[in-house]
Amino acid sequence: MPFKHLFDIPSSITYLNTPGNGILPKSNRRWREERERRFFDLHGDLRDQQPAFIQSVREDIGKIFKACTTRVFCTPNFSFGYNVLLDRLPSSYKYLLLDEDYPSLNYPIVNRNLNYKTVKIDEHLEQNILKAIREYQPDVLLLSIVQYITGIKIDLAFIRQLKQDNPKLIIIADGTQFLGTEPFHFDQSGFDAVGTSGYKWLMAGFGNGFMLLSEHLTNLMNEELHDRPSPKEAMWASKSMLQTFFEPGHQDTLSHGTLQQSILFLQETGLENVQKHIHSISAFAHEELAKRNLLLPAVVGRSVRSSLINIQIAPKHYTDLTANDIKCFPRGTGIRIGLHLYNTHWDIEKLLGILDTYNIQGNYEI
Ligand SMILES: Cc1ncc(COP(=O)(O)O)c(C=O)c1O
Repeated sequence: MPFKHLFDIPSSITYLNTPGNGILPKSNRRWREERERRFFDLHGDLRDQQPAFIQSVREDIGKIFKACTTRVFCTPNFSFGYNVLLDRLPSSYKYLLLDEDYPSLNYPIVNRNLNYKTVKIDEHLEQNILKAIREYQPDVLLLSIVQYITGIKIDLAFIRQLKQDNPKLIIIADGTQFLGTEPFHFDQSGFDAVGTSGYKWLMAGFGNGFMLLSEHLTNLMNEELHDRPSPKEAMWASKSMLQTFFEPGHQDTLSHGTLQQSILFLQETGLENVQKHIHSISAFAHEELAKRNLLLPAVVGRSVRSSLINIQIAPKHYTDLTANDIKCFPRGTGIRIGLHLYNTHWDIEKLLGILDTYNIQGNYEI
């Protein structure tokens, strides 16, 4: 099923930069314009309906990603929610991180001077994690579901099994390069927390995100807070104690409303259809890039793959790709692309046509 017509993409542009930021559906942009107009109309009262509006956003997030609404927290981005979460965990905890994971994930462990060890990311990622858990016995495992440079995706069946075998291990994930690409059932995922920003694969622009918490982790954090008095003011009477941390102030309803519109769009499209489309075009891209020896060896060696692909050509080609209206980004040892709902086989053909003029094989110019 074609989806590109649901987005405003000029015919000259090949948009492959979703790992940087995604494109809003047309319907979403229309909603924003109308909302902005009504919001500032003094005859209306949208500005006074913030709590009820944000509650409806929480409900829609909970519905699509299968999490109880009381454990959904709206945040301005991934990093805000994640930093709040870390500060609610005992400082004695030991953390297991992945080498070269996104800095927003790893650096808050470093700057808090917490105890941690890192695991190498290669084609045997899951085995490396198991070995490190046996040896280091961490309290918390932290990882991005999809790595931002290489596109390496953790095997989600592995996470479910890991949690079953280690119920006390707290597993925290960054879903920013993942949520919006396939169906995801948070409460059955094995994760204790999944946070995200909305501006990439959720196609919701900047200034919105959320954090989902498991029942286990919610209870654990609430136990730590049990002796603190609840807010006494009537206007905060309905806030849960955890909300006073994750959602301490007023939220931007335009931005969170945009996220809500994207979620409704994904719901209507069907995340299983999104997955099917992405799978079809990224399988084609992987196959063609593998033929040209342009994939990372660690990616070639894995059956679990994402649609974030690091093409192993010298980053100097970025200028020429940009001149050809290919939107992508230099990252790590190559050029990063992402394939989403609005991309087509033709986008890949166009990219391959340009790559083929470079006369390259692997990272070696001929
Ligand atoms: C894996 C990952 N997590 C999170 C983010 C963004 O986090 P934030 O919006 O909090 O800066 C990015 C952005 O590139 C990312 O790649």
